[in-house]
Amino acid sequence: MAFYDSEVEVLIDEARLQARVQELGAQITREYAGRDLTVLGILKGSVYFVTDLTRAIDLPLQVEFMGVSSYQGGTETTGEVRITTDVSKPLAGKDVLVVEDIVDTGLTMQFLLENLRARHPRSIKLATLLEKPARARAKIHIDYKGFVIDDVFVVGYGLDYGEKLRNLPFIGRVKGK
Ligand code: IMP
Ligand code: MG
Repeated sequence: MAFYDSEVEVLIDEARLQARVQELGAQITREYAGRDLTVLGILKGSVYFVTDLTRAIDLPLQVEFMGVSSYQGGTETTGEVRITTDVSKPLAGKDVLVVEDIVDTGLTMQFLLENLRARHPRSIKLATLLEKPARARAKIHIDYKGFVIDDVFVVGYGLDYGEKLRNLPFIGRVKGK
């Protein structure tokens, strides 16, 4: 028994999750060979994905993080995003791989990618563990995608529900939500 057993049901189990992360790591290894790779994780949701994914990439790379917070208008994100933590090194000239937990409406990524392009990286690509296309409000090109999911609220492996349940080793669904 684990603390979450009564409130969460498994959607993507740990074995499937880890196998997919290894596949993405292998693909990124092939496609970035010889490049100056900077992996840019978006706090806090991508932390678990970033640590596993970078260990699955067989290339020299740098890891950076950015923190963003969406201004809420009612219960929906407004697409107006504030940068709360910025990178420690300039991104100009770098091959930047943005790593996100989930693309939901896409509004956060739309803002962030526009902001990052203005910093003149050599290239910019997006890896997301999850995509929820049913709620898309902005068209976002995803280069590396873990799983496409239905319109359900998910937790675990970095994703939270009220700042809790990030530390589940799988992607789950809160029962009754
Ligand atoms: P956006 O709607 O694409 O701008 O997504 C903004 C952020 O909402 C994501 O980066 C997640 O942090 C959060 N989010 C969206 N869907 C879920 C979910 O199902 N569970 C937990 N967090 C979510
Ligand atoms: Mg997030």
